[in-house]
Amino acid sequence: MDKLIITGGIRLDGEIRISGAKNSALPILAATLLADGPVTVANLPHLHDITTMIELFGRMGIEPVIDEKLAVEIDPRTIKTLIAPYELVKTMRASILVLGPMVARFGEAEVALPGGCAIGSRPVDLHIRGLEAMGAKIDVEAGYIKAKAPEGGLRGAHFFFDTVSVTGTENIMMAAALANGRSVLQNAAREPEVVDLANFLIAMGAKIQGAGTDTITIDGVKRLGSAHYKVMPDRIETGTYLVAAAATGGRVKLKDTDPTILEAVLDKLREAGAEITSGDDWIELNMHGKRPKAVNLRTAPYPAFPTDMQAQFVSLNAIAEGTGAVIETVFENRFMHVYEMVRMGAQILVEGNTAVVTGAAQLKGAPVMATDLRASASLVIAALVAEGDTLIDRIYHIDRGYECIEEKLQQLGAKIRRVPG
Ligand code: EPU
Repeated sequence: MDKLIITGGIRLDGEIRISGAKNSALPILAATLLADGPVTVANLPHLHDITTMIELFGRMGIEPVIDEKLAVEIDPRTIKTLIAPYELVKTMRASILVLGPMVARFGEAEVALPGGCAIGSRPVDLHIRGLEAMGAKIDVEAGYIKAKAPEGGLRGAHFFFDTVSVTGTENIMMAAALANGRSVLQNAAREPEVVDLANFLIAMGAKIQGAGTDTITIDGVKRLGSAHYKVMPDRIETGTYLVAAAATGGRVKLKDTDPTILEAVLDKLREAGAEITSGDDWIELNMHGKRPKAVNLRTAPYPAFPTDMQAQFVSLNAIAEGTGAVIETVFENRFMHVYEMVRMGAQILVEGNTAVVTGAAQLKGAPVMATDLRASASLVIAALVAEGDTLIDRIYHIDRGYECIEEKLQQLGAKIRRVPG
């Protein structure tokens, strides 16, 4: 298993490019299954989760064609089997996103039921109930969700999400795009990735209104056609590099990103003392060598502060001036990084869903272990500010969501290297 070695204490300074959004690319790839012709998706990030999705397509008999710029052309008409096997689903929960498109387009699907994961129990009951509301018959048997559309295809439905779910909203929106009649999704997720997926579906010919609000209306169409689409920038990668620069007292300019999709994060960074400037597709953060000030925050669905940025802000608070309370309301077990940071000298108290972080004057390098994707990112940030060397184990987690992290951080002046293990 590869490890990262980071020698901390260097102020980040420089310019890098932000990659396409993982959490937008995954549903968009799944949505290509709805088309009745070839579809091209561009600006895909080069990440392990994207490779897993492409491997899943390969298992189903679809061979995506990848060009040198990592645009992928997919022709779903070559599909041979409608099964997403457990070996793949257990490595990537987002595989559940093929369920809605397969039932809508091909009338049936068998998708392994994802289990719990390092950040919580993460049930998929809403995905199942949404499809049932559209007339699908669903049985869970031997660890698989076996779904069948009714005679004549899925029917449009009114569906209320009793918890806001990002991939749940995406799955049902994709299914509704090819259903008979109108669907109305209430208490829908408003994340920018849901809007990006809706725009992709619209580019294929879907009729969707209200994406980005909590009520999405979809008028099903008979067929969805070819399209060429560019995935939006990754707001969590953007936020992660901004926090890394802020924690080290440095400066960073991020290109090919979008300042309008992470306002809650930018606000918290300003509160921590960062100077932030931005243009249409760039953001620059400058701490002018200052130590950040601790901030209080509470995660919640978009447009509130994202759970996927919580761990990184725990790192920021860990070396900030003062004490900050971090409340996690989306997942029940998303504080695993805290215990690793404590090994580096962080002063953090966890009580229920709250971590109270008192900034230490200095963290110290130590061997630590990554437990999930965003936890790994937070340990990288802690390592960048710590005195001495930090060895981060299990960094396969980070390769799921951060494209070329060593190269990007090296470009900003960090001392980071990967050691095969
Ligand atoms: N939930 C249910 N029932 C469901 C679905 C969700 O109770 O059927 C609950 C979950 O257990 C959780 C809450 O609803 O407590 C929100 O979960 P959501 O369904 O929104 O999460 P997700 O769609 O599985 C996506 C991202 C996550 C991100 C969350 C929250 C993708 C592929 N994944 O997950 O990203 O944390 O939304 O914003 O879009 C990451 O990138 O590191 C990551 C974990």
